Amino acid sequence: MIVDMDGAPEIIITEDSTALAEAAALAIVKVAVEAADAHGRFTVALAGGSTPRATYEQLARPPLCDRMPWERTWVFFGDERGVGPDHPDSNYGMASQALLAKVPIPAAQIARIRGEADDPEAAAIEYARHVGEVFQCKRGELPRFDLILLGMGVDGHTGSLFPGSPVLKEVFRSFAAVHAAAASIPQRFTFTLPVINAAAHVMFLVAGPEKAKVLKAVLGEPNSTLPAAMVRPTNGRLLWLLDRAAAALLNPAKAR
Ligand code: 6PG
Repeated sequence: MIVDMDGAPEIIITEDSTALAEAAALAIVKVAVEAADAHGRFTVALAGGSTPRATYEQLARPPLCDRMPWERTWVFFGDERGVGPDHPDSNYGMASQALLAKVPIPAAQIARIRGEADDPEAAAIEYARHVGEVFQCKRGELPRFDLILLGMGVDGHTGSLFPGSPVLKEVFRSFAAVHAAAASIPQRFTFTLPVINAAAHVMFLVAGPEKAKVLKAVLGEPNSTLPAAMVRPTNGRLLWLLDRAAAALLNPAKAR
């Protein structure tokens, strides 16, 4: 079922998490091919957590892996935990196992966040600088990703933007090291809202009955201050890919 309202985010509700992964992988290929055809490359920030893994695995397999412009794909991470790449909770580690190690993306076009850094602030500045170089940003200019993938926690956090975090008010920095007391691994790194909202496409992947209550709040309450509700691309497309369990409390008529 597709719900598309004037100016409202697009919401695609799939039968289950497998169908969600298929729909998400197809949508990613479409954006990637369009971007590579339009401006010679595809820039994407991958999401962490557990939900995107099945999507990444779909992308790594035929027929979709043969349709992706891997040589012209530049991969970044929307956020990372304060751990090294081999740690079981590493977002880079998950994405590498499920996708990056299986497809022909030039290694120089994969930008890992040094989650293990002793000086998180310096690592965040280093990552922001690298992003600025790849996007050839002028001073104060934001990178415009072709696609930013996001998940959402049961508390409404997205990336490593947690409820009540001062980083939600960030207007200058594109990327930040943050301390998320509520998270299992408090040391985090994340793109800020200005970068997320500057993207051409933002795609949320959300599955499971445990997400239904917060999803109703995020999509149903126009003035919600939950981080996921603050994702509103200024000149881009916002797509919510949900499974039926996560969408259980949504009333299409109330969807904003
Ligand atoms: C992270 C993620 C985070 C994630 C949500 C949902 O590093 O933890 O970027 O924002 O998307 O916590 O996680 P699940 O997909 O595991 O439910």
